[in-house]
Amino acid sequence: MSHFQRPTGTLDILPEEQPYWRHVRAHATRLAERAGFERLDVPVFESTDLFARGIGTGTDIVEKEMYTFCDKGDNSLTLRPEFTAGVVRAYIENGMHVRPQPVKLYSTGPIFRYERPQAGRYRQHTQFNLEILGAQDPAADLEIMLLIADIYAGLGFENLSFQLNSTGCPACKPGYVAILQDYYQHYRDQVCDDCQRRLEQNPLRVLDCKAEQCQPIIANAPHIVEHLCDECRGHFALLREYLDLLKRPYKLNHRLVRGLDYYTKTVFEVWAGGIGAQSAVCGGGRYDGLAQALDGPPTPGVGVAAGLERIILVMKAQGVKVPPLPAPAVFVACVGEKARPAAVQLTDELRQAGVATWLAFEQRGLRSQMREANKRGASYTVILGEDELARGVGAVRNMHSGEQATVDLAELTAWIQHRTAA
Ligand code: HAM
Repeated sequence: MSHFQRPTGTLDILPEEQPYWRHVRAHATRLAERAGFERLDVPVFESTDLFARGIGTGTDIVEKEMYTFCDKGDNSLTLRPEFTAGVVRAYIENGMHVRPQPVKLYSTGPIFRYERPQAGRYRQHTQFNLEILGAQDPAADLEIMLLIADIYAGLGFENLSFQLNSTGCPACKPGYVAILQDYYQHYRDQVCDDCQRRLEQNPLRVLDCKAEQCQPIIANAPHIVEHLCDECRGHFALLREYLDLLKRPYKLNHRLVRGLDYYTKTVFEVWAGGIGAQSAVCGGGRYDGLAQALDGPPTPGVGVAAGLERIILVMKAQGVKVPPLPAPAVFVACVGEKARPAAVQLTDELRQAGVATWLAFEQRGLRSQMREANKRGASYTVILGEDELARGVGAVRNMHSGEQATVDLAELTAWIQHRTAA
């Protein structure tokens, strides 16, 4: 065995896994486009500054998890640790703010974070990302939440839990942070080391600490939703009203604060059971200050990203079936070297005619080729031997019924096409 192995925390997605991937991507794309989202592809790497400024220098992502490198021109670049900052950068750079607003964009591709790998947590994962830029209306927050819920429902998921909170805005968040820090003053020597640090650098993050000693303290901590300014309170009330109107259940989670600094107002996650500790199948929220933080025009925004690896873990845990990859319609078997040119030619002709065709390579006995045709799930096998060639025909076996027919080579492609057309 080679001593080369894939890097820690990465996955090889083998052909047998691909039906899941294909199904999820196609399904999510179909629903996003139906809701008016357009695809945007952004680079896999961007300037390090973009993420530091966008996500926040005090966050775990920027502090510990970025794959940052210097290129040969001495530029500091980072493999994208999320989509949102890059999407907003592209929106500003390409003048999308002069288009009719809002602009709805979806993106998908690999994301890189240097995390401690475990089930459902990788150093390279894949996101399906949705953003609505240029809309202040809580109906935009609702649209993002409904779309992601519809994507999961269409995949056949059960027992998902929507977790919802509001983290306020620059007008009300600092006031709440002061109240939280004040509350924690009494417990400074009881909280874990991480929380002691968080209280200085990123106080809201104390609320999602997992350390046991911090749990009773978090349980009694003041709730941010009780300290929102009028605007944030009104926005949140309207969103909850819409969710109730549409009978979409959610849990108000006072501890949900998210790990990226750009959020204002709404934050949410969807949790799934049965896939271990890493249960968030998506996370998102509103980021009304991000465009300005990136030197763009004031542009409200709201979005979500779903982790495809976790979605596929849920599909497997819940026994969700996906359509298999199509098997070849025809397997071309060739007996004897003299028949090979005709086999190559027939294969090409069939493929040109749009028929999925597999050609057997190397000289092998017919039995071994028939076994292969079976394994590959072909519907028909065309057998070309010297005998058949001399008569200008091919022997065609229906692999399901076992029936065999002799068909003129000149008519064979049309014969097969007629029988295998979808
Ligand atoms: P996030 O919560 O950091 O949000 O990531 C979104 C989703 O990506 C998570 O809910 C999870 O499903 C998946 N994910 C994250 N890290 C990993 C990992 N190490 N391994 C496997 N899956 C992972 C964001 O990235 C925001 N940009 C979302 C957003 C878009 N907010 C507004 N717009």
